[in-house]
Amino acid sequence: MANVVRDPRQSPGVILPDLATNTVSPFAKEAVAFVYGSIWKQRYFTKIGDDYFAEPAQWDVTHRVWRRYFVENGTDWWATLYPPDNMKRPTGPLCDGCHSVGYDVHTKQVAEWNVGCERCHGGGAAHVARPTVANIENPARMDDRHANDTCIQCHSQGRPLANPIEGRYFDWPVGYRVGLDLQDYWRLEDHKLGETSFTHFADGSAHKNRMQGNDFVQSLMYRRGVTCSNCHDAHGTDNAAQLRKPGNALCLGCHGPGQRNGPREATLEQHTGHAVGSQGSRCVACHMPKIATTVADVRVRSHTFEFISPAMTAKYGMPNACTACHTDRSTAWATDVLRRAPGRSPWRVE
Ligand code: HEC
Ligand code: HEC
Ligand code: HEC
Ligand code: HEC
Ligand code: HEC
Ligand code: HEC
Ligand code: HEC
Repeated sequence: MANVVRDPRQSPGVILPDLATNTVSPFAKEAVAFVYGSIWKQRYFTKIGDDYFAEPAQWDVTHRVWRRYFVENGTDWWATLYPPDNMKRPTGPLCDGCHSVGYDVHTKQVAEWNVGCERCHGGGAAHVARPTVANIENPARMDDRHANDTCIQCHSQGRPLANPIEGRYFDWPVGYRVGLDLQDYWRLEDHKLGETSFTHFADGSAHKNRMQGNDFVQSLMYRRGVTCSNCHDAHGTDNAAQLRKPGNALCLGCHGPGQRNGPREATLEQHTGHAVGSQGSRCVACHMPKIATTVADVRVRSHTFEFISPAMTAKYGMPNACTACHTDRSTAWATDVLRRAPGRSPWRVE
């Protein structure tokens, strides 16, 4: 999170592709004031006056190809409220509030680019002058709702309650800072059960990226007081996605056969129906399928932790973990396997 936004003049080499291969919408290196992103996709911001604008071409990191970047009507809620031209869609109201510290909506200046300490710890001036535990925010000492809001302020799709703000529509929680109630500034994107939309699947799971918050608040773990930071260390770790522990070890810190939090079967093999060590025995394979689209067919993991049954695919056209992996099998096959699984109620898989 500390390196989302980078200036190619200060950090040579941050532009991943060869710009000469861009036939989608060519631009020169000199036009790039900032490079945005490196994990899934890279976008390029150009400066006009005191605003930044996203070039209409982006780099798909996984497939190593250029793709068009333009937010169409019927996708993000704000598309119809801005002219259909990237160069008339400033990043200040639409992006920068989540990729910087202290973006000032009047002066358009930031205190610092990227997700700096103060986004999660609040203002640090007094603490720097005289460091004590009492004069700095620490999510570890907040209740679970406020601790989660620290992350949800950026990891969610929603709209500010105050929109429009001085005539402009913002896509980030203007005015919120850590420790306040995010609900006073931000409404999570609406969804009607049964409908598949740009943001949601029929059951309410995230359909697109940057919805870890929208997903997680629906989960039983959220209700029981689990936080993002129980699983992630936002300061970085050696594991994928800044996880505190790799693979199943993370989940098995709180789960396991015979433990109060489940699963209920006597062994993990019985729970997963796969041998230990199989791809099909990883907790994330079934409870966090990659279904939230970030670019083209590249997807990030669901954070409701629900098992989406194969029957849901048949009924609502949403993906399920079983046949996403067993691509040569039908949803009816997977439903049948589950129905016969010992210890599992057939009523739950229909
Ligand atoms: C994206 C959010 C985020 C950012 C950015 C962030 N922190 Fe933290 N920090 C946290 C959370 C969450 C905790 C509490 C961790 C926990 O629950 O154990 C924490 C805890 C801490 C602690 C206490 C550690 C302990 O062992 O009790 C220190 C010190 C700290 N952060 C310093 C920093 C500094 C310095 C920076 C900037 C270089 C920074 N943090 C940036 C989220 C963040
Ligand atoms: C100011 C906005 C902001 C806040 C607050 C924030 N994030 Fe992020 N987070 C981002 C952005 C932007 C990225 C994409 C980073 C990149 O492209 O390098 C990201 C990426 C991540 C990733 C993926 C990193 C990877 O290497 O795959 C994790 C995990 C994550 N954040 C967890 C958290 C947690 C946990 C918190 C709360 C303690 C938090 N974030 C708070 C903006 C934020
Ligand atoms: C409400 C906060 C928020 C807003 C607004 C926002 N982003 Fe992000 N962005 C994030 C977070 C959090 C992530 C990482 C999590 C994810 O993608 O699931 C991210 C990821 C990205 C990535 C992928 C990073 C990578 O390493 O692959 C790019 C590129 C990006 N954002 C660009 C933009 C642009 C351009 C805009 C404005 C049109 C924008 N973002 C608006 C929070 C935000
Ligand atoms: C910090 C502890 C903790 C960690 C780590 C953790 N869980 Fe949980 N999990 C819980 C608690 C607490 C519950 C609620 C149990 C209850 O009340 O029945 C729960 C419930 C669940 C449920 C049941 C949800 C439902 O709707 O019935 C699933 C599935 C689950 N966790 C999956 C996972 C997965 C997958 C991981 C690893 C990625 C994980 N958990 C990591 C604490 C944790
Ligand atoms: C092959 C798929 C699969 C894998 C892998 C898997 N689960 Fe599950 N899990 C399920 C299904 C199916 C359910 C039942 C969902 C329902 O009834 O709605 C479930 C339910 C649960 C529950 C709720 C309590 C219960 O027993 O019904 C917990 C907790 C849970 N899983 C944790 C885990 C953990 C931890 C891992 C990794 C060790 C894991 N699961 C791996 C498919 C899987
Ligand atoms: C119970 C554990 C758990 C909780 C709680 C949790 N995550 Fe995750 N998260 C994971 C796991 C596991 C991955 C997948 C890592 C991988 O693919 O290897 C992940 C992946 C991510 C990613 C990278 C995108 C992707 O899916 O590949 C982001 C960003 C992220 N989480 C943010 C959050 C935020 C923000 C919260 C709270 C709103 C949160 N997570 C809560 C376990 C958790
Ligand atoms: C991440 C990939 C993955 C997921 C998700 C997954 N499986 Fe599997 N499954 C495998 C692999 C790989 C094998 C081959 C044997 C092994 O490694 O255990 C397998 C073997 C099987 C087998 C025995 C061999 C066969 O083809 O008849 C059955 C039955 C099965 N899986 C059913 C399911 C069901 C039902 C689900 C959803 C609850 C599921 N799998 C989810 C990867 C997966």
